[in-house]
This record gives sequence, structure tokens and C-alpha cells, in this order.
Amino acid sequence: MISRQIIDDILARTDIHGLISSYVSLKRAGSKYSGLCPFHSEKTPSFTVYPDDNSFFCFGCGIGGNAITFAKKIENLDFEDAVEMLARRVGITVSHEDDLKYEAKRHDKKRIYQMNADAARFFNKQLFSDTPKSRVALEYFTKKRELSLATIKHFGLGYAPDDFGVLLKHMRSLGYTEDELISAYLCARSKNGNVYDVFRNRVMFPIIDVSGNVIAFGGRVLDDSKPKYLNSADTPVFNKKRNLFALNYARHTCSETMILCEGYMDVIALHAADFSNAVATLGTAITPEQARLMKRYTKQVVISYDTDEAGRAAADKATKLLEEAGIEVKLLKLPQESGAKDPDEYIRKFGRDKFRAVIEDSRTKFNYYFERSLSRHDIGVTAEKIKVINEMCELISTYYSVAEREVYAVLVADKLGVDKANLLSDIEKKVSKRNKERKYKDSESEKNRMLGIGDKVNVDYAKAPSIAKIEETVLGLLLLFPSHRKRSLQSSVPMLTSDDFFTEFGKKVFDFISNAEDDAQFNILDNFFTPEEVGRITKIKRDRMILSDNGDKVFDDAVHSLREQVKKQSLSNKKIDIGQLDDLINSMRKSN
Ligand code: CTP
Ligand code: MN
Repeated sequence: MISRQIIDDILARTDIHGLISSYVSLKRAGSKYSGLCPFHSEKTPSFTVYPDDNSFFCFGCGIGGNAITFAKKIENLDFEDAVEMLARRVGITVSHEDDLKYEAKRHDKKRIYQMNADAARFFNKQLFSDTPKSRVALEYFTKKRELSLATIKHFGLGYAPDDFGVLLKHMRSLGYTEDELISAYLCARSKNGNVYDVFRNRVMFPIIDVSGNVIAFGGRVLDDSKPKYLNSADTPVFNKKRNLFALNYARHTCSETMILCEGYMDVIALHAADFSNAVATLGTAITPEQARLMKRYTKQVVISYDTDEAGRAAADKATKLLEEAGIEVKLLKLPQESGAKDPDEYIRKFGRDKFRAVIEDSRTKFNYYFERSLSRHDIGVTAEKIKVINEMCELISTYYSVAEREVYAVLVADKLGVDKANLLSDIEKKVSKRNKERKYKDSESEKNRMLGIGDKVNVDYAKAPSIAKIEETVLGLLLLFPSHRKRSLQSSVPMLTSDDFFTEFGKKVFDFISNAEDDAQFNILDNFFTPEEVGRITKIKRDRMILSDNGDKVFDDAVHSLREQVKKQSLSNKKIDIGQLDDLINSMRKSN
């Protein structure tokens, strides 16, 4: 355990606004800052940073806490590593000498990085070894895929021999144990207990993180056998949903625009042709985490997926996720007549200059979908033309800006020879329908939130929302004011115990507060609660902070009324009457 004094020191020296603004663009709003939440997708900012108590909270997804919480979530770290990262930022050295668990974990990770690096070296060496099968592998890269030796070296490509145990034997000679190799996904154990190499007779693509560590491998067969690619499963150092192939190189050249491909080979071909801003996902469809990761490095992404139907469907999904992450999307359209199914093939056939022209000619989302709709329907046929009109109205209605909608409507009207005013009026009908649906959804979720329906943090909230609400008042006052803690825990007023609380969450937070040795304990909530729980506790505190009266009377009344209500509830144990819900909501709105 890192000493709390050091943690306090780190937190005191960490300026939360400075920390967060290196990930999120923040705007000042009075004494706080707001921006688009990096933890969920949103178009209007509900992510708020409070310099007054060094906290943050997102009203959209409920994530909140202090700098440790933020570091944990944004870098996907555990508590100790998050503290370590913040310590480095402010120039404090943390010693983990007495922390055996932390040391063991750090040691395991270090071993996997070492193992992966050693394995990558081994695979690379095999590619150039003088055996018939190695020669086939090398020729696969140099002849079939037309890669230069420089490119092979740049990406550290390799060959896993057609053998169940050569890697194992080599790695054992370097001192790695079977269990270590299995934990890195380089080896596996069969049902009858034999340990064997996972990657066999495949050309190997090391996956490298932005710090230069080899974190995983992809391996491709040399022929048409299946599965075409085999990828490392997740390990303690690898999460396929949170990394991108070649980001270690692309990060240096992608600040304006990045190229997103489907395959490793596409990325390699692009880098070899000087498009070093290309990346690919790791054997899965793009995830929201990857979209947000890209947002940290670039403004615009050109989606360069395969030309087949699967590629197009994947591009639809990528467009949606990238836009939700706030990235400007463009879509590459390889000329149909080129016959190339992906960027790799196109470059091999036509060279880098032609590809550059295709990149420069990539479509905005509107143009891409307009062209696609036109290519799928014959507008000479009335029924087909109407389909195009409907598809375009639907698409245009998703744009936020009225001016933008008008520009697109004019393009469609001209192309299809229909009246612009009629088209616009159809579009605006869809826009208002969309807005109505959104408003309805918002008010429903607001209502549910107030009643605690679907509350994943405080699962008992919905059983008795009014009690849960008073609990929050009591907890908020306890969290904020040492004086209330003193009153309730050690003085004249009857002592509060966790039995006075109704919800499990309330009990848990109360137990934490009453066991806290000192205020510093409140800095390390992340060591005891999930990020979602820390978010809720942060909100409970903030909700109280903005109220003017937090005096003893307010506290005593809340405690009193909590006791009364919990008693009543346990006596009657009755469910809430649905007819009373609206009254309840109204009364809670007032008390808010
Ligand atoms: N992929 C995978 N497993 C498969 C097939 C594909 O993980 N069985 C992933 C790989 O990351 C691959 C990407 O999906 O790079 C795209 O697939 P595909 O277009 O088939 O691969 P290419 O890289 O274009 O492969 P190649 O050109 O070598 O045939
Ligand atoms: Mn390909």
C-alpha cells in the first residue's frame, strides 16, 4: 500500500484542470469547467471539472471522482498504477518496496513485455533462417506481398515455425517458465497437460503499444487455410479493444488526419508507401474505446475499409462510433473499376501517387451515402427515386445545423429534379420527430433516474426513492463536514450506525465514512469503491456543497427523518404505490 501521506502530497500537487485538459478540451463556466465526456459519447458537454475541490463529474454517465479516478479510467490503470502515473507527473517518487502484491504484479507485466520482445526477436530470426519453410514465409512477404526488407524490419515481422515446441524450447532456454508463456498467450496447455506453441507456421505481426512495448501478436497463414489470422487473446498487458495496430508509428504523423484500415497488411502497405498515419483495429470491429483513443491523437479519420459488403457494413459502424467520439469522418472510395478490394491491393497495383489521389478524393459522409444510394437505385424509375429521396431525407435530418441541412437538400433537389422547398419541409418534419423522440427519452430517463429505476450503483434506490434521497443528504453532510462526522459518530446526539441506512450502498458508504481514520481516507475512495460508486459519492457530495444551509439542524433533521422512514418502511415493507409516483417526483423536484 502506498502511504496515504504520499498520495495526499501527489493529489495536492496535481492540478486537476491541467491533468484533464490534456485529454479533454475544457471551457470555463464560472468557477468550473465543462467539456465533452471522454468516457461516453455525447454531443453536448455534461462532463464537469471542479477546481474548488479537485473533482470531476459527468452528468451523462455518472463517472466522477478525483485525479486518481480520472487517471484510472482514462488510462485503464489500477489504483497503484494510477497513483504512480500522477506521481510521475508532479515529480514524486513512489516506493513500492513493502508492497508485495504490487511488486508481484509489476514483475509479471514486465516479464510478459520481455517475453513478447524475445518472442518477436525469435520469430524475426526464423524468417531469415535457412530452412525450406522459412524461405516460403520470407517469400510470402517479399514476393507475394511485395514488402521490402526495410519494411519487414520496421514492423519487426517474423515467422512462427511449423512446430509445436520450438518457441517453447527457445523461451525455456531464456529462463521463462511454462506458466509465464501461457500467461502471455505464446503457449497453451492441452487437455492432457502438454504445453505447446500457439502460433505455428504463420507469418507474425507484432503489436506494439505507444510506449514501444510488444503487447501481442497477430499471425497469418501462408495459404488459404483457416483461420486466416490468429491473434493473441487479452493478457495482463493486452486489451484488443483498447489498442490499435501501428499507432506507435502513426501517432507522430496523424495530428491532422489518420487513416483507418481493416487489416494489418493494409496498414503495412500504407506505411511502406509513406502514409505513416495509418492504423488498424486488432481483429475486431472498431470499439468506442478505440474511437476515443483516436480522438486523442487526431481530428479527422479517413475510413479505408475493404470494398466488399462486409467492409461497407463495418464502415457504417465506424462512421457512427467515430462521429460520436467527435471525430470528423471521411470515407475512402476505391474506384470500382480498379478491381482492388482493399488499400493494400490498390497500392500494389497502382502505386502511391494514385492512392494519394484517392485519399484526397475521399468523400464526406453526406457524399458517400448519397453516392451509395444513387448507385443502388435507378432514379429513372419513380419508386426507386422515392427510395433515394427518403434515404436522403433521413440522413440529412441527422445533421444538427439548419444551414448544413439546407446545403444538402439543395444538392439532392438538383440531382433528383425535385422541389427544394418540399424536400426541406420533409426533412424538417423528420427533424422535429427526432427531437420529440429525444425529448421524450430524456424526460423518461430523468424520471427513471429520480426514482432510481435502472440504478446500477444503488440497486435498492428504486425500492424506496424518498429514503434513498434522505440517505444521500446524510451521507453528503458526513462526507463534507468533519463536524457532522463528529456529532454523529462520537457525541451527544444518538450515534448513527449502518442499521440506520436502508440501501446496501448507503450502508457501505456509511461504513467507509465511519471507519475512516482521517480526512485523507476520502482521497483514496478508488481503493475501496468501483469507479461508478466513486462517481456517485462525488455527486452526493457536490449536490450538498451547492446548498447554502448545511448546518447542524439540517443534519439532525435528516438523521431523524431517515430513522423514522426506515422504521416505517421496515414495519410496512410496502411497495411504492404507482399512483403516488408523480407526487413523489414533484416533491423531490422541489426539494432538489
Ligand atoms: N482478421 C482476424 N481473423 C480472421 C480474419 C481477419 O483477426 N480470421 C482481422 C485481421 O486483423 C485482419 C483484418 O481482420 O488484418 C482484416 O481481415 P482481411 O481483410 O481478411 O485481412 P487482410 O489484412 O486484408 O488480409 P490479407 O490481405 O492478408 O488477406
Ligand atoms: Mn487484404
